[in-house]
Amino acid sequence: MTVRVGVIGAGMIGQDHIRRLTDVVTAARVTAVTDIDAARAEEVAARVGAVALPTGADLVGSPEVDAVLVTSWGPTHAEHVLSAIGAGKPVFCEKPLATTADDCLRIVEAERAHGRRLVQVGFMRRFDAGYRRMKEVIAAGTIGAPLIVHCAHRNPTVPDAYRSAMAAQDTAVHEIDVLRWLLDDEIVSAQVLTPRATSKRFEHLKDPQIMLFETAGGVRVDLEVFVNCQYGYDIQCETVGEDGLVRLPDPAAVGIRTAGLHSTPVLQDWKGRFADAFDTEFREWIAAVETGATPTGPSAWDGYAATVITDAAVRSLESDGTVVTVDMKPRPAFYATGGTA
Ligand SMILES: NC(=O)c1ccc[n+]([C@@H]2O[C@H](COP(=O)([O-])OP(=O)(O)OC[C@H]3O[C@@H](n4cnc5c(N)ncnc54)[C@H](O)[C@@H]3O)[C@@H](O)[C@H]2O)c1
Repeated sequence: MTVRVGVIGAGMIGQDHIRRLTDVVTAARVTAVTDIDAARAEEVAARVGAVALPTGADLVGSPEVDAVLVTSWGPTHAEHVLSAIGAGKPVFCEKPLATTADDCLRIVEAERAHGRRLVQVGFMRRFDAGYRRMKEVIAAGTIGAPLIVHCAHRNPTVPDAYRSAMAAQDTAVHEIDVLRWLLDDEIVSAQVLTPRATSKRFEHLKDPQIMLFETAGGVRVDLEVFVNCQYGYDIQCETVGEDGLVRLPDPAAVGIRTAGLHSTPVLQDWKGRFADAFDTEFREWIAAVETGATPTGPSAWDGYAATVITDAAVRSLESDGTVVTVDMKPRPAFYATGGTA
């Protein structure tokens, strides 16, 4: 069976995922597109032989749509995800699940009331081959109990519209999700420290930031977020355990020797760095939808957790680096068991 996907939000990542669902994931077809920019929806839909529909509600209700992909702006996600749950359709929502913890909880409650997991959140790092190998090594006990994780998340530059809180909300949120999964542990506190700001970018921006997290199991995490580092897009992660360490591999790249230098190119953006992870993420999501299996990717609960932890990091940033306790509800059994009621 071909899974017929309807896409809400035909912007930058929406168009990239439409291309992926059309050219890469053979078991899927995009049949409907909507965007508040109707002309954009028409143009993007026409490219793949889909229909453009006026609203998200029309798309969710369409008999030509088996599953929904939400790639609109963050503040609109909750409405569309709740609508898909109401229609009993599987829904993949790009991060964030919702921009407030309360809206995330509304989604969690709606999904629990439905009785089966329908929601997957777009944290694609869980599908990256390097992170997956790291998780296997940690789970196998090869490095002993994890004690410390050192991470860095660096972008060459960001636009003027990027604000200091976005370092947690848009950037570190990927580490926040992948660390909870990697360590199979919960983050219980966040602290954000600001060293001297780089002079290379905007006055309004606190960049870089050092984020410190503690897990329930006592692991300490340090994360450097530096979004105007100039030199490239660079993701680092190293977990130190009692018996050794495991490090995320750099993307494969040729070594170049010339003019007395031995060099390796550094990628310039996240799209290239996580292209394979995005492909795997959608292949696995579509396979789950096709067979009616419970999605194995990040759940609505993971979306809630990421928003609550991000909120704690922003509160720390805004209170000059105080340690902020993460105020998270207890995880319902529904999400501990893979989500089948
Ligand atoms: N996983 C990742 O690494 C990753 C990367 C980039 C973006 N994202 C997320 O994807 C989402 C979209 O980001 P983007 O960069 O593509 O933004 P974008 O502005 O390029 O595109 C968003 C599109 O949604 C449309 N839209 C907004 N509200 C709508 C609504 N209620 N109904 C229908 N259409 C609506 C806009 O007109 C626009 O075309 C954001 O939540 C962002 O955080 C995730």
